Amino acid sequence: MTIRVQLGDRSYDVVTGAGARHSLATTIASVAPRASLVGVITSEAVHALGWDDVDTGLARVTVVVPDGDVAKTLSQAERVATELSRHSLSRHDVIVTVGGGAVSDLGGFVAAAYLRGISVIHLPTTLVGQVDAAIGGKTGVNLPTGKNLFGAFHQPLAVLCDDDFLATLPPREIANGYGEVAKCSLLRRRSAETLATLPISDLVRDAIALKAEIVSADEREGGSRALLNYGHTLAHAIEALVIDGIDLDIRHGEAVAVGLMFAAHLAEALGRIDSRGVENHRATLQHFGLRGDLPSGLLVDELVGAMARDKKAHHDFTFVLDGPVGPEVVAGVPRDVIIELLVAAGGVR
Ligand code: GLY
Repeated sequence: MTIRVQLGDRSYDVVTGAGARHSLATTIASVAPRASLVGVITSEAVHALGWDDVDTGLARVTVVVPDGDVAKTLSQAERVATELSRHSLSRHDVIVTVGGGAVSDLGGFVAAAYLRGISVIHLPTTLVGQVDAAIGGKTGVNLPTGKNLFGAFHQPLAVLCDDDFLATLPPREIANGYGEVAKCSLLRRRSAETLATLPISDLVRDAIALKAEIVSADEREGGSRALLNYGHTLAHAIEALVIDGIDLDIRHGEAVAVGLMFAAHLAEALGRIDSRGVENHRATLQHFGLRGDLPSGLLVDELVGAMARDKKAHHDFTFVLDGPVGPEVVAGVPRDVIIELLVAAGGVR
C-alpha cells in the first residue's frame, strides 16, 4: 500500500507492506537519480541483525550509532556528519536511515544540516518509527533540558515501512508503537467498541494515513499538526526527567499512554468531556495492552517544571484535550488543576 504525503513538489510516498525495503534501489534511482553514494545510518542492534544490509543499487558508507535515545545528541550528529564527509558524500548523494525513531530523528537532522541539506530516505524498523517518527520531516536531537529541542523540519524523499522488520520486534517495542496508534484512534474519535471490530494491521495503516493527512495539511505545525502531540505534554515531561537522569524504564509510547490518560482526566476536570469520555480513553489504551498509569515516585514539581519548558508551551501550559468537537489544542491550562491531578495520579509533592 502506498500513502502519499502531499506537499507540492516535496510530496513523497510512504510505502507499507512485507518486503517494502526491497524497493530501496529503485526508489533511490527514481527520486535521487544523480546520487552515486549512499550514507546508511543505522543503530547497533539493527546492524547486528543485518537489516541495514539492504540493496541501495549504489556504493555505500555505513555509520552505526548507539541504540536508543543516547544517539540523539549533537556530538553523535557531528560524528556521523564527519564520517560522511570523510567519504566525500556530496549534495547529489542520499542518506538512508535504517532504524527506529532515534535513528530517523538523528539521521534526518544530519541530512537537514550536512552541506546545508541533502536528501534522506527512511526505512523505519520499529512500529513507533513507522507510524510516527519517520513521517512528516521532524528531525532533531535532545538537549540536556529536554527532548527534541534542537532540530529542523526536513522532509524525506520516501519512507519504506517494511512489515518484515516488525515480525521480530519484542512485545515491549510493539507496545511502544501502540501508544502512537492508540493516540491516532482517539484523534479519529473512535469508540473502544468500534476499535474492537478492526484488525490491528488496519489500525496501524490508518495511523500512517492520519499522520500523512495531518502533515499534508499543516507541515510546520501552525495548526492541526499540533494535534499529533496528543498525550505528549506529560509524556515529554516524563522523558525529560529520564534525560535528566531519573531511574525510570519507560518507552515513548508508554509515556504517551500515561499522557493520554492524564489528558483525559484534565479534559474531564475542565468540563470538556464526561466520565464516559475518560472511560473510552482507558478502554482504548487497554485494547492495545497499555495502562497509562503515572509511574510511581515522580515529583510533581519536576514534572510541572518540565512541562513549562516544553517547546510547545509558549510560556504557559498547553495540552491537546478532548472536548465536544474532539481533541483540540488548549492553551493556558491552570497550573493548580494540573498539580491536583498529578497528585491524584500518584505524583509526589
Ligand atoms: N510526532 C508529532 C509530529 O510529527 O508532529
